[in-house]
Amino acid sequence: MDDNLHQLRCFGCGTRVPRGEAKPDFRCALCGDLFEVEYPGWSQRGGNDRPNAGALKWLWRERRCSSEALDRSGVWRFREMLPILNSFGNAVTLQEGNTPLYHLPRISKALGIDQIFAKHQGMNPTGSFKDTGMTTAMSIAKERGFEWVACASTGNTSAAMAAYAARAGLRALVLIPDGKIAWGKLSQAMDYGAVTCQVKTDFDGCLKLLIQVVKEAHIYLLNSVNPFRLEGQKTPAFEIAEAFDWNVPDHLIVPGGNLANSSALGKGFREMKELGLVARVPRISVVQAEGANPLVRSFKNSKGAEMEPVEAHTRATAIRIGNPASWRKAARIIQDTGGWCLDVTEAEIAIAKAEIGAEGLGCEPASAVTLAGLKKLQTQGAIQSGETVVLLLTGHTLKDADYTIEFHRGTLLKDEEKAGREKEIDGLRRNAQAVEAIPSAVLATLKDTAG
Ligand code: F0G
Repeated sequence: MDDNLHQLRCFGCGTRVPRGEAKPDFRCALCGDLFEVEYPGWSQRGGNDRPNAGALKWLWRERRCSSEALDRSGVWRFREMLPILNSFGNAVTLQEGNTPLYHLPRISKALGIDQIFAKHQGMNPTGSFKDTGMTTAMSIAKERGFEWVACASTGNTSAAMAAYAARAGLRALVLIPDGKIAWGKLSQAMDYGAVTCQVKTDFDGCLKLLIQVVKEAHIYLLNSVNPFRLEGQKTPAFEIAEAFDWNVPDHLIVPGGNLANSSALGKGFREMKELGLVARVPRISVVQAEGANPLVRSFKNSKGAEMEPVEAHTRATAIRIGNPASWRKAARIIQDTGGWCLDVTEAEIAIAKAEIGAEGLGCEPASAVTLAGLKKLQTQGAIQSGETVVLLLTGHTLKDADYTIEFHRGTLLKDEEKAGREKEIDGLRRNAQAVEAIPSAVLATLKDTAG
């Protein structure tokens, strides 16, 4: 592979390494920070390696009608932006990406912002945004001849990794925090055949443990510290821009957990701007759960310069992370794009999730922080009524059915969590009812609802 096409650059000290030389934990040998993939040829205007914006837009649209396996992937459809493999024949794909962008009419009306959309990454093959990054990084693992891949996970990464490993014919090792992930996700890792270890620690402990493991054994690490994951995760930015006819939205709002996805999307927009595909980059804001908010604290205490880990608690288990690996990257993208970093309460998350459900979409709790965050930003005057907003919904509603059922039964939130919002919550609850097997009993339930 030509290093002019791609190389790794340390996010902290700028050191460049030819792609094969990164250590197994993907930390810079000099400063310990994480890497980004960069494409030196793109900055040489007129150079052979710099893609042509007009030609790309045409080509990517044409591929939507193609029946070639790679063209049918919403990640590899943009492969000119992903020159990371020796051969695209090594790509491991489950036809990920090409996810829907939905307008949210009720939410738009309620907030007085006409143009609110949801980019639903839960509509990927394993039900979360992780698939877009897993297809790229798993392809690298396969091309480099690894037999084993591994991740620590709050559930979605492990589901995606297990599925892609199965497709690639590789073995998968999953470390998950015991008792702290949603059953839907755990069942996926089992179904796709991963070796799944429930470890008596939290996500941060699992990741720490796994880093030690990959230093001792020849196992390819597929957490989002792996920069090739982020290459795939940048592609929804291309889809969003394409959907708006290459006029980017004003705001993109993303949930924050291990804090890689926000910067991946930012990278996608930045690269499009560099190549002349779009004129500007949206403001990217990151929303965390109040009980798992180390980046929010970092912005409050040091304007994003330092981060103290926290002990994380939230029922949005996907983002129950207290020591996020990619926090520096996320801080940078928020600052560079003029976005915000904020947190939302458990009640705000539950209400927002029910409202997204009422739009006929649904999502998992971690995704709903985006709407809860938007409401807060609007109240603070940070988002204007004429602006276009895209919420990134990261996971499918069926990932965590227990959460949804508990909300509608009224057992999810403690009294102190819902204090002052009981009416709003009750208005959204739709508990299932026990009904006798006679028509009049069924019809009576309609009257009750109407009343
Ligand atoms: N939303 C969902 C549904 C997630 O699963 C995650 C992360 C995030 C948001 C946060 O993304 O980490 O890039 O800031 N889940 C990881 C996992 C940690 O193991 O599945 P991030």
